[in-house]
Amino acid sequence: MKFILLGAPGAGKGTQAQFLTKEFDIPQISTGDMLRAAIKAQTPMGKMAKEFMDAGKLVTDEIIIGLVKDRIAEPDCANGFLLDGFPRTVPQADALKAAGVEIDAVIEIDVPDSEIVNRMAGRRVHPASGRTYHITYNPPKVENKDNETGDDLIQREDDKAEVVLDRLKVYHEQTAPLIGYYKTEAEKNDQLKYIQVDGTQPIDTVEKSILSALK
Ligand code: AP5
Ligand code: ZN
Repeated sequence: MKFILLGAPGAGKGTQAQFLTKEFDIPQISTGDMLRAAIKAQTPMGKMAKEFMDAGKLVTDEIIIGLVKDRIAEPDCANGFLLDGFPRTVPQADALKAAGVEIDAVIEIDVPDSEIVNRMAGRRVHPASGRTYHITYNPPKVENKDNETGDDLIQREDDKAEVVLDRLKVYHEQTAPLIGYYKTEAEKNDQLKYIQVDGTQPIDTVEKSILSALK
């Protein structure tokens, strides 16, 4: 199965990806996690991406498209994958289509901006795995420690309140048009399902809504 998770920053894409990748036994391809790994490894791409990400702006389409094309050509993607945070612009969606990738479902997680700011402030992440927690809504078993490794959790640089507002603006301008784009694609193509879920529900309710819509 090949899925796309669509939604604003903080909508819960990474959180739901953890369940979906287990359920369907497919890898999660998070362009955000890949860029953060490149920053940590101080690669030339990471150095370039850091400036954009810290400012809440998008990294150029050219770089991201190359990154995703290389990743989906890897052997573990042969049976499908879950795209988290890609495509994020119309040119990225066009590039995926031009590459002949046949998507089974686009899953939109819908959360209003007012709720997003609250979520970002409480988010904590395990950088090595991308596992995500929330101090109130999804706390780790031990305060500030990852459940599986016991490593310290961190706050993302781009989760500062002022950057979150810029990321939301970028989302509405450049990514939200993909909602109409994929709804139209799904009308033309019987193989493609467009699923919209209310992302303000509790995490396990969102998970159940997605799974029942996929069946
Ligand atoms: P990326 O890492 O993709 O960030 P994002 O899209 O802004 O999304 P987030 O990871 O912030 O949110 P999420 O939806 O995964 O939410 P989460 O599950 O963590 O991208 C970062 C940057 O990289 C971009 O700004 C850009 O610069 C660059 N980039 C990446 N991809 C790119 C691309 N394709 N093109 C160009 N540039 C790109 O949940 C958030 C919080 O809420 C957590 O604390 C969680 O525990 C909590 N939560 C989740 N669900 C619920 C729920 N139902 N109820 C209560 N709390 C919940
Ligand atoms: Zn994420």
